[in-house]
Order: sequence, then C-alpha cells, then structure tokens
Amino acid sequence: MTSASVTAPPLTLDALNRADAPRAAAWLAGVYEHSPWVVDAALSRRPWCSSAQLKHLLATAVREAPRERQLALLRAHPELAAKPAQVGGLTPESRREQAGSGLLLSGAVDAQAARLRELNAEYVARFGWPFILAVRGPRGNGLERADIAATLESRLRHPADAEFAECLRQVNRIAALRLDDLLGEVPELGQQAWDCAELLARHSDAEGALTVTYLTPAHRACQVQLLRWMTECGFDDVHIDAVGNVVATYRGQHPSARTLLTGSHFDTVRNAGKYDGRLGIFVPMIAVRELHRAGRRLPYSVEVVAFAEEEGQRFPATFLASSALAGTFDPSWLEQRDAEGILLRDALRSAGLDPAGIPLLARDPARYLGFVEVHIEQGPVLDALDLPLGVVTSINGSVRLLGEVTGLASHAGTTPMGQRRDAAAAVAELALFLEQRAAAEPNLVGTMGMLNVPDGSINVVPGRCEFSLDIRATADAVRDACVADVLAALRRIVNRRGLQCAWRETSRVSAAPSHPAWQARWERAVQSLGLPAHLMPSGAGHDAMKLHAVMPQAMLFVRGGNAGISHNPLETVTTGDAQFAVQAFQHLLGQLAEEGSM
Ligand code: HGY
Ligand code: MN
Ligand code: MN
Repeated sequence: MTSASVTAPPLTLDALNRADAPRAAAWLAGVYEHSPWVVDAALSRRPWCSSAQLKHLLATAVREAPRERQLALLRAHPELAAKPAQVGGLTPESRREQAGSGLLLSGAVDAQAARLRELNAEYVARFGWPFILAVRGPRGNGLERADIAATLESRLRHPADAEFAECLRQVNRIAALRLDDLLGEVPELGQQAWDCAELLARHSDAEGALTVTYLTPAHRACQVQLLRWMTECGFDDVHIDAVGNVVATYRGQHPSARTLLTGSHFDTVRNAGKYDGRLGIFVPMIAVRELHRAGRRLPYSVEVVAFAEEEGQRFPATFLASSALAGTFDPSWLEQRDAEGILLRDALRSAGLDPAGIPLLARDPARYLGFVEVHIEQGPVLDALDLPLGVVTSINGSVRLLGEVTGLASHAGTTPMGQRRDAAAAVAELALFLEQRAAAEPNLVGTMGMLNVPDGSINVVPGRCEFSLDIRATADAVRDACVADVLAALRRIVNRRGLQCAWRETSRVSAAPSHPAWQARWERAVQSLGLPAHLMPSGAGHDAMKLHAVMPQAMLFVRGGNAGISHNPLETVTTGDAQFAVQAFQHLLGQLAEEGSM
C-alpha cells in the first residue's frame, strides 16, 4: 500500500500503534523522502502517545544516524525548482510542496526560477548535497519563491557543518508537516499565535525593520492592538497601566481566589525578531480565549501582562515594566534621558501616563499564586536537540554598564603612533580582554554590544570612545568576579595609554532560579505532550527575573529555528511549536485547577 495520500481519511495514532509494522511503515512511507529507515527506527518505540512524541522520535533517529546515512537522506531529496526531467521523479509529497510555492516549472522559466536553479547548482557544488528547505515554511502554508531564494543565498554562506545540521532539521520539519497532513492535525492555536506576531510586527519605529522602543508611536500602536485582542479574547478587565503595560484579567470562580500572573514584553531591540517576548503574551492570551469560548472559569484568576519595557533600548534602565509590578521601580529612573534628551518622566506624560501611578502597580504577593512566562529560547540548544519545548532551571544574572574612554583627538596623518592617546584603540583592547575573560569560564558571557566614537572622523585619532558592557552568569558571584576583572583591566589599559575612563552601572539583575514546584509543573506539562522535559538555564534575561523577587516563578522555552538566532530578523518559530506551547500552558492551568489552587 502506498503512503496514505492527504485526500484519504486521516490516519490515527491509534491505527498506527495497532497496525503491524509493515503496514504502519507503508502508511508513513512518504514522511521521509525515499528513506524508510527513519520510520523503521521509530516503529520499535510504539505505542506512540502523541504526534509530538512521534516527531521527536523520528528526528532523534535522524540526528543519531551515522553521517553516511544522514548524507544519503539529504541526497534523497530533489532540488527545488526541479527541472522538467526531474519533475516526474518527485514523490507526491514533494510535488505538492514544490507546487505550493510555485516551484514546479514547465517550459521556459522566469528569471527568478533561473536564479533559483543557479543557486541550487552553486549550493550542490559547494556542499555536495541539495539545498533543503521546508518550503511550506514556519506557518506551514508555503513560502514565496523570493523568500526561498533569499534563504538559499544566505545559507550558501554557512559553514558546511552548520549547513549539514540545518538541512537535517529542515528534513525533520518537512516530515513533521507531512505527518500533520496524514494525521489530519492542524496547529490552529499555534497559527493564531504566529499570526498575532505577524500583525503586531507591522508596527515599528523603523522602516524595513522591527524596532519598537518604549512609548514611541509604534509602541503605543502595539498597546492599542494588544488591548483590542485581549478584549476580544474575553478577558473581564483590560487596561493600560501607569507604566504602559497592557494588563488583562480573566476572573476565577471565586472572587477571593488568588491570581496566576503571566505574560512577557512587547518592546523589542532594534531590528528585532517577531517572537522575543511577544510569543509569551499570545500563548496565555489564546489559552484564556479557549477558556472563554468554552464558558469555563478556573478556581483562580489569570492575569496576562504585556510588559511595556524590558529591553532597555530607549532609556538606560531596563525591565522598567516588570520592576513596577515587583515594586522595585526606582524613581530615579524617571530622571533618565533618551538619546534625544527626553526625560523618562516626560515620555510617560506624553504617552498619557502618570508617573505618580507607578508605585501603586506593585503587586501584593499574597494575592498571587506565582508567575509563569513562556518565551523563545533565543539560543541553539532546543533546535540542536530537535525539541519543541524546554523547561528553564534558572535565569542568568546580568550586569550592564555604560562607559567612556577619553584620550586626545589628533591628526591621523601627523600624530606618530607612539604619541597617540587613542580612545578607540583602548576600548578595542578592553573588548578583547572581555572576550577572553568571559570565555575562560563556563556559564559566563560578556558582550560589548555598543562601541562608538562620538563625532568621529576618518582622519582623526579618536579622542573619545563610548562603550557598553553586558556580563552574565548563572551565578552572581561568577558574574561579579568577571565585572571586577574587566574594570581592573580597563583601569590598567587607560593608565598605560595615558587616558581617562568613566563608567556607570545601568542595570544589575540577580540570577533567578526557577521555583521547584513551578518548574515541576512545566515539566509535567511538557511530558503530557509526549515530549521529554529538557531542563536548561536561560542565558537571556526575562521579566520573570524581576517577579522572582516577590513570587515563585518558572519559565517555559520554545524552540527557535535558524539555530535559535534572536535579536535578529531571522528569529523564527513554527506554528507547530507554538501549538505545543499553548497546549503546555493549558496543561499547567489544568494542574493548578486540579491542585485546587486558588
Ligand atoms: O538582553 C536580554 O537578555 C533580554 O532580551 N532583554
Ligand atoms: Mn530580548
Ligand atoms: Mn525577551
């Protein structure tokens, strides 16, 4: 029997579990292109409890296969924009997928298709296997040819090993989509979360990039959009608070019941991805909408907060919004100025917000069960393990500093090298010290994200150089030792070079271990999907580390594609993984209800 085509009635997991191995293998023959060995490896692990588990077992079989077998798997795939002679050899699945993205070309091909074929040939010549991409894309409904060509062009520059791993992940993504078709599974809730991210990303401070910094017009447009969505989802109370958060409450059965606090931020870094923070707003929002649609009330209330400021892009201080809820908002932050010299206090007022109301936002911990946050991992771990979800054990603590080195601006042509007081060279030396010092210990990172010669000129030895430091570690003591060493190095460098330096700490957030009971709830939620609960630290900072000061917290991570890249437009998640995140969140809500939490 050939593989069940998508027009046949959907297969069920139960039928697959009950069928004899050859029959189950035949049903799944089209999932991995001309490579039945992958399904065979998973058959021995039946009964499968969920499609999530089956997908993970299949991906694990691929990841653990010998390199030669993996290479054969890649080479079993057709080129995209296949030539007419090749089209006949396409599997029904590949034919459908390529047709869906306008890649099945007969006769004369247009320039774009010709370019695709050129790139394909260049790719094969460079790597020795065909370029593989799940052309149905992260949403599952098909990428445009232009996007495919752009992805091919960018991946051509990848190192071979990274590209080999990415092709294997793309093979697994193709297989997961094919499996969804066979099982008749559509990740609707994940698609809705994904679509919200697309729509919210339309608001930006910058043309052609996603940048939403605190209280800008784009930021306020996001507030309005979020307020509208929350209202439509059936929350009982939705409002914008004094610091600009969009706060939505879905009341519990009992007025005296405590509240589960959840959410994440909607501000972004410059030229950001669409999911950092925001996915952690849409997941609980959609879970509550499902409760509302079912007319269901939980014993406890659910408060979803779209935090207005987490990234620290416009003003030096960061986590402004979650600090307000934790009662740790420092009034001196109101005197901070942005790059245009606008006071935070005035920016709030211009946005119609009253700074005097901020202290009143502090949450009474006695009224809350705890805080949970869903967030993209922003790193490569889950993508490398073919895991849709991960459970956070601790959030790294961070210290951020802004500094400046002052030397003497002088003529680039006439100032002998031995007589320069070059501020930029000093900062560059510090950057290299930071890099080797942070690399010297595990679970420690150091970044000089900004390095700037104010009013610099090509023919002037820099007299001033501004810089930033972002130092993080799973343990505060490790972080602080690194900060001390870097500042000592700064003093040594400027003394030797006859320069001056100054710096100020703009943010210090302690490492935040997950509360064991809440971490365990996330573990059970992930395991309920048939997935292993992978425990991992968070290298990125999150609003949860601010709420950590006043209530128990734990986080759920969602896999990022493109090796988890983040703070970059290449940031991506699939609707399938977003679906798993909603389902895990729903399971956590159910656990709390069953525990009688209120
Ligand atoms: O920098 C961080 O870790 C977070 O994205 N604000
Ligand atoms: Mn971020
Ligand atoms: Mn974030």
